Amino acid sequence: MKILFCAAEVSPLAKVGGLADVVGSLPGALAKLGHDVRIAMPHYTIVDKVARSRAPAGRPFTASGLREPEPVVVESTTLNGDLPVYLVGNDRYFARQAVYGEGDDLERFLFFSRAVLGLPEALQWRPDVVHCHDWHAATVPMWAHKLAISPAAVFTVHNLAYQGAFDHNFMAASGLREEFVRAGEKGMQLPTNMMALGIYNADLVSTVSETYAQEILTPEYGNGLDPLLNYRKDRLRGIVNGIDYTEFDPATDPLIASNYSLEELWRKGVNKTALQKRAGFPENDKVPLIGMVTRLDEQKGFDILEKAIGAILQETSAQLVVLGKGREVYHELMQRLSHEFPDRIAVVIAFDNPLAHLIYAGSDLFLMPSRFEPCGLGQMIAMRYGAVPIVRKTGGLAETVPDLSPDLRRGRGFVFERYESQALAEAVKRAAAGFVQKDAWKQLVERDMQTDFSWEASARKYVAVYEEAVRFHRGDRAKGKTGD
Ligand code: GLC
Repeated sequence: MKILFCAAEVSPLAKVGGLADVVGSLPGALAKLGHDVRIAMPHYTIVDKVARSRAPAGRPFTASGLREPEPVVVESTTLNGDLPVYLVGNDRYFARQAVYGEGDDLERFLFFSRAVLGLPEALQWRPDVVHCHDWHAATVPMWAHKLAISPAAVFTVHNLAYQGAFDHNFMAASGLREEFVRAGEKGMQLPTNMMALGIYNADLVSTVSETYAQEILTPEYGNGLDPLLNYRKDRLRGIVNGIDYTEFDPATDPLIASNYSLEELWRKGVNKTALQKRAGFPENDKVPLIGMVTRLDEQKGFDILEKAIGAILQETSAQLVVLGKGREVYHELMQRLSHEFPDRIAVVIAFDNPLAHLIYAGSDLFLMPSRFEPCGLGQMIAMRYGAVPIVRKTGGLAETVPDLSPDLRRGRGFVFERYESQALAEAVKRAAAGFVQKDAWKQLVERDMQTDFSWEASARKYVAVYEEAVRFHRGDRAKGKTGD
């Protein structure tokens, strides 16, 4: 099958969060299964620093976002040496460092999505399926269906909290109004955002765990899109993400202090010492070291962590290292705490990939107290490195981290249910108590390290989804439901 991925982030070319990891690794797993997979992403300036080689691809064409048609210049590069990546370029929109957070993001990604539609013609390569990710590519399915030879469209939700919402002026200027009118005539009042258009128009909608696929049907997790998601429920699937087993392998990882595997587990301790040193902590293998690699915001649980930290400091001997960026209030909170308790808490406000790897390798425990978590990759990476997760029971965390039995013989991590500081503190205390049961702990670490979180099983599920989408698309087109 021929599959075109469309996304705003692709690791390692441009990465902000987990979306980049998924779009950077799932295509490789699909290619291994024998499919012709290619990726389209915007050509940001930052890409040039990472892309090894670039070459012009296809002939130039034009596309329009909010304005008259403008030039699209496509270059191709590769991922892992062989997977084609098409860099969709236009100086006005993408000759900048930032992936997101620009005042004109809506216009930029509208342009990207329109430009993607010109690719099959310009490259003389017709995908059977376009696989679009998050709001940045959410208008692609609707427009793709209007092409003379139209591909089936799969839309994947990575995070429902970011929807690409717009006002009526934008709706009018973008030519999207008629889509909303048409949906309204069929009885569906679509919320005015990009993501709603993706969910409404795709042949199949998927999200990144089965649990999150269920959760987003409720008002608590639906972010206002739950009525639409319920309307499309029979076309909604959940497939848990995998992690990149070549990038994340403690036996070969060049970014950590000492490589280790099940046979030489003691070497993990070398990483712990290195991490304690880096954090400015006393180097003590007897205290549990907790790592976090995250975005510092409410989704990731910093509001309950703030209230739980007193109890954690008083009632355990744990040390905590936090790496990431996010909201200023939480940067300040963590910096204040690290000044107050320099032996126990350290924070690095940055994106720092080598340090992230050292945290996975050096930590005994890995904390993810998320309010919601569509999938979460950190807990899976942590387990592969033998850091036992402490997680809230939500989304992909609930799915990938079964709670431990009191004797630690069954389960993979410490799970708490209620989104409350007390429940979080209790889980950390449970973890600290487990840490001193040396034999059971070692077996737990070994069990976690052996759990299979590779992409293969999930990639096969995606293939089934693509096949189903193609069938639906043919049927819907025959019934006149998609396309003009
Ligand atoms: C988003 C979600 C995260 C998920 C990732 C990749 O970042 O918040 O839970 O793992 O996308 O799908």
